[in-house]
Amino acid sequence: MDRALRMAALGRGLTSPNPLVGAVVISPSGVVVGSGYHRRAGEPHAEVYALRAAGPAARGATLFSTLEPCCHTGSTGPCVDRIVEAGIARVVIGVEDPNPQVHGKGIQFLREHGIAVTVGVRETEAARLNLPFFIRVRYGRPFVMMKVALTRDECVAEALGVRSAITAEQTTSDVHALRAEFDAVGVGSGTVLIDDPELTVRASPQTRPLTRVIFDSRLRVPCSAAMFSTQQAGPILIVTTEAAVTHSSDHAEALESLGARLLVAPLHDLTSALTVLSNEGITSLLLEGGPILHGAAWEAGVVDRVRIYVSQTEFGRSGVRWFRVRSAIVESLNNLDVRMVGPDECTDGYVHRID
Ligand SMILES: NC(=O)c1ccc[n+]([C@@H]2O[C@H](COP(=O)([O-])OP(=O)(O)OC[C@H]3O[C@@H](n4cnc5c(N)ncnc54)[C@H](OP(=O)(O)O)[C@@H]3O)[C@@H](O)[C@H]2O)c1
Repeated sequence: MDRALRMAALGRGLTSPNPLVGAVVISPSGVVVGSGYHRRAGEPHAEVYALRAAGPAARGATLFSTLEPCCHTGSTGPCVDRIVEAGIARVVIGVEDPNPQVHGKGIQFLREHGIAVTVGVRETEAARLNLPFFIRVRYGRPFVMMKVALTRDECVAEALGVRSAITAEQTTSDVHALRAEFDAVGVGSGTVLIDDPELTVRASPQTRPLTRVIFDSRLRVPCSAAMFSTQQAGPILIVTTEAAVTHSSDHAEALESLGARLLVAPLHDLTSALTVLSNEGITSLLLEGGPILHGAAWEAGVVDRVRIYVSQTEFGRSGVRWFRVRSAIVESLNNLDVRMVGPDECTDGYVHRID
């Protein structure tokens, strides 16, 4: 299963909206005869690659799959049929598929066809690998990760309205690599007005467009925002309100003519806004700030993971604070990972316990 999990991870950032899945076929004498992983939505599932590689050696063998094999016909045929046809004797599953079309049905089908099934091997790892997929299926919203850069004295900016450098070059690269794993990256209108970020993936191989989301209920974002000159990097979605579209119809049209798409949600209702984004096919959202939007997401209970970079810089009394002291957030996190990224300290953790 460890090998299957490593295979699954090779698809990171590529399979959305599908989950990451890895599969390994082991002969009765304990030899790996086939392995594979899901590479991209619409392409064969991991089990198919592993069975193809195993060929006739799959007969009587054990198939390890990080996720319950599918039993429905999506863009590819059901994997359970292939498993039965290949003559697999036993299937070991990391975690059940939460998708109601599959959930438990794949396992039942295999058992009904005389295949021994074991479920829950490396379950925590298998579930964590696919948190975005699990969260979207269960709650109908994207997986949300909040990311912030703080100075040692816990400021997010030097002063109100001032664009400020906080972290070192190594952290910039780390953040760009992180963005590449997400379907979308989002900021509040305040951050666009002050920092004017492009929110692109630089210095990291990008294999697909990154959607940029601006939460802007009053349509305050100007047409001159830097993001609009980076259309090739990925779509731009502005989550706004019906009232803003009506009252600022000329500006709304101007933003649309620059390539932005306007999505309407109730005023400052992040839960509804996330449902709207999920309906757009977004399974994971990296929320980069600023503090008002982070605070709103935290209060709404829609944050699943948090990453905090802390630099050696200090901004002193004029500095703008985050929405909460760092320790209050960190203390509530699980599965904490702390590491150095160049001179900056990076703390990463999950809001919900996964074990
Ligand atoms: N260090 C970091 O990691 C980091 C990251 C980002 C930003 N920053 C800094 O943070 C500062 C800007 O922060 P900010 O807090 O003023 O701006 P922000 O959080 O980026 O944007 C706040 C605005 O977002 C809009 N908004 C849209 N939907 C919302 C919702 N559901 N709930 C709450 N607000 C919503 C609101 O304006 P409307 O009512 O008009 O919609 C609100 O005023 C800048 O100085 C920037 O440099 C630092």
